[in-house]
Amino acid sequence: MKEKKLLYSKDIIDKRVKALASTISRDLEGREVVLIGVLKGAFIFMADLARYLEIPHTVDFVRLASYGSGSVSSGDITFSKDIETDIEGKAVVIVEDIIDTGASITFLQGKLEERNPGSIKVCALIDKKQRRERTVNADYVGFALDEGFIVGYGLDFDEKFRCLPEIYVIKEGEL
Ligand code: IMP
Ligand code: MG
Repeated sequence: MKEKKLLYSKDIIDKRVKALASTISRDLEGREVVLIGVLKGAFIFMADLARYLEIPHTVDFVRLASYGSGSVSSGDITFSKDIETDIEGKAVVIVEDIIDTGASITFLQGKLEERNPGSIKVCALIDKKQRRERTVNADYVGFALDEGFIVGYGLDFDEKFRCLPEIYVIKEGEL
């Protein structure tokens, strides 16, 4: 078992997600809203966010594959699952678990932009700046984090810990 330290409690996460949903609801009221969740990490965050949104919306998902190994994405990214929704003219909200280097979100924004959506907003539960390589403007951020590898609430380490209700930092030296 990896040693880990509690970072964000269930209650704190819940309050942030509710606040994000209320801001998004206000900003996108009257638009045709599509939430696009990035699998797998965003599945729990998106489920909560979607239920707290106060405006009608549809949901869809992408899954990205990045070549290269290790815990940093190499930047060579493809869709391993694309969305099935026509997003032309619609208000797209990309729902990501965590922005790290910025490679995944930059790829996804570029691909979705080609399909002429009305707008694209980025909603990330965690904005982690330490390893950022691309400039990313996240419109809605749950928590800003300087450093550390985190798990829980959808986030995994080697497919483990996704279903913990809280978010933990894995202690250095354990990775
Ligand atoms: P990026 O392309 O480097 O921004 O990669 C972001 C992806 O890397 C996230 O969607 C996560 O799947 C994964 N990731 C980055 N940092 C962490 C972390 O601290 N915990 C779990 N997954 C992470
Ligand atoms: Mg991810």
